[in-house]
Amino acid sequence: VDNSHIGTGNRQVRVAKRAIGVPSPDVFSVVDAALPSCPPDGVLVRVMFAAVDPAMRGWLSSETNYLTVATGAVMRAEGIGEVVESRHSDWHRGDWVYGSFGWQRFCAAGVSDLRWRIDPSIAPPAVWLGALGLNGLTAWIGLNHFGRPRSGEVIVVSTAAGAVGSVVAGLARAAGLRTVGITRGAAKITRCIETLKYDAAIDYGDARSLGAAVAAACPDGVDIFYDNTAGAIADAVFPVLKRGARVVQCGTVAVQNWLDAPAGPRRERDILVKRLSWHGFVVIDHENLYPEARADLQRAWLAGKLDAQTEILDGLDAAPGSIRHLYEGHNTGRLCIRP
Ligand SMILES: NC(=O)c1ccc[n+]([C@@H]2O[C@H](COP(=O)([O-])OP(=O)(O)OC[C@H]3O[C@@H](n4cnc5c(N)ncnc54)[C@H](OP(=O)(O)O)[C@@H]3O)[C@@H](O)[C@H]2O)c1
Repeated sequence: VDNSHIGTGNRQVRVAKRAIGVPSPDVFSVVDAALPSCPPDGVLVRVMFAAVDPAMRGWLSSETNYLTVATGAVMRAEGIGEVVESRHSDWHRGDWVYGSFGWQRFCAAGVSDLRWRIDPSIAPPAVWLGALGLNGLTAWIGLNHFGRPRSGEVIVVSTAAGAVGSVVAGLARAAGLRTVGITRGAAKITRCIETLKYDAAIDYGDARSLGAAVAAACPDGVDIFYDNTAGAIADAVFPVLKRGARVVQCGTVAVQNWLDAPAGPRRERDILVKRLSWHGFVVIDHENLYPEARADLQRAWLAGKLDAQTEILDGLDAAPGSIRHLYEGHNTGRLCIRP
């Protein structure tokens, strides 16, 4: 195959050292490597969009986690790309694919790195990385499998304006729930109300008493708490959970590290007396639900029920600072890099 048109170099972002807390730019090094060749039984992918995810903090930490990226390796990341060469009969040059391609321009991908083909005529490629990708699957599985929503119920969502939170809002609204979002800053409150159509939105930075603000927004209590933050926000929501409420622990973005167990109110009595259920989940454990979830997400997207805003950072030089950007809450919707 003549690949002369794509050049000879492969810019990559590699892990230089372990991170403590939110990874700072010096955790990474940006290098110019040689263009890899297409692996036997695999494909060569030109990466078009690479994800930036809060989970990356855990992958780079020395704390025990469900997944880690070794020092020296290319930073792991989900991505959207185009097959530029294939040595596998199921994948063809010109296919648009979703997979685990890392923070680099080209990825020599084995079939296990490839998740599925995407159809750019249904949605722009970056949306396939967000609302129609793992963010959407996370929202769908957390809400439907663990939250078990019923029409008329009340759901509270933390990181309400973010990539996962905005899909939870769209799906919950479509299922007939009353939706309450928690986020920070006037711009995101406006986005929650006007674009994502939450019934109420609470600024956790403003509220003098977050607990009182949550109680005022949910006078009849809360049936589902879709929690992406833990910490002070969760402390404010637990007291208003109703009997039989479901807590979906999707993320813990507000807690800097778990080495020194953070102190907070104890909730065992609430769990017992209110018959609460509190489920943690990691989306990649639920591949059996992907086909149903993907079909439903695509239907919701085509029906205009999902907002899939993306923020795109240009060039891999932006990657080392991108996780901090996310943790400072500067992103609106799905943050990704165009390598
Ligand atoms: N369980 C799973 O399988 C799974 C899969 C994917 C994602 N997740 C989790 O889902 C959550 C959202 O991820 P995402 O990709 O959609 O990111 P995102 O919400 O688009 O971006 C992260 C957001 O976190 C908020 N944040 C940062 N520091 C915070 C703090 N100290 N206190 C409260 N909020 C803070 C910021 O929003 P504000 O401006 O609102 O503060 C920021 O925009 C994360 O917890 C992530 O780990 C879980």
